[in-house]
Amino acid sequence: MRILVGLTGASGHPVAVEFLKRCPAPDKFLVCSKWGRTVLADETGLGPDDLAPHVRKVFSDDDLFAPFSSGLTPLDALIIVPCSVTTLGKIAAGIGDTLITRAAQVQLKERRRLILALRETPLSSIALEAALKLSRDGAMIVPLSPPFYTHPKTLADTVGDMADKLVQALGFPAAKAWNAAALE
Ligand SMILES: Cc1cc2nc3c(=O)[nH]c(=O)nc-3n(C[C@H](O)[C@H](O)[C@H](O)COP(=O)(O)O)c2cc1C
Repeated sequence: MRILVGLTGASGHPVAVEFLKRCPAPDKFLVCSKWGRTVLADETGLGPDDLAPHVRKVFSDDDLFAPFSSGLTPLDALIIVPCSVTTLGKIAAGIGDTLITRAAQVQLKERRRLILALRETPLSSIALEAALKLSRDGAMIVPLSPPFYTHPKTLADTVGDMADKLVQALGFPAAKAWNAAALE
């Protein structure tokens, strides 16, 4: 499976880092928006180059010559984590002026998987309408919302749970069973 992971300037980068570590897709690529790089550094102390060991290659968000700007390049999924409401709004408006937004445009037109791990609260009507529009167009809206029914003991548990949810959204089996005894 080939995936492109886009990091934007919303909060939630510890989840993005954990997702990159946990996602078993063999062919992973990374792109960070300008504000994605800033908030990544602020929240984790890391830069895109520190994440390079978890991916095949890191692309610049300015690089519209990157292969993922074209539908000719096979891409099973684009996952934007965390996804800002700015990037959400741009994608919903059909704007593709960065590699992240252009790759999202391509996924939509080619009817391929697009996952938006949205992070903002509260959500304006504008953001909700944009999310609904994209959901109706086939995108999967997966807000970064922490589960508590898994009984996390630490913040690292919560971050891991949210990262696992994104791995599952890509079609990989769930990392944890829940109430499996009730199936018997
Ligand atoms: C520390 C920090 C935290 C932010 N958190 C959020 C957030 O959680 N959600 C959001 O939509 N925008 C957030 N923003 C604002 C975005 O970074 C800003 O709108 C930016 O233009 C997004 O651009 P991008 O989507 O191209 O990365 C945050 C900005 C900073 C500096």
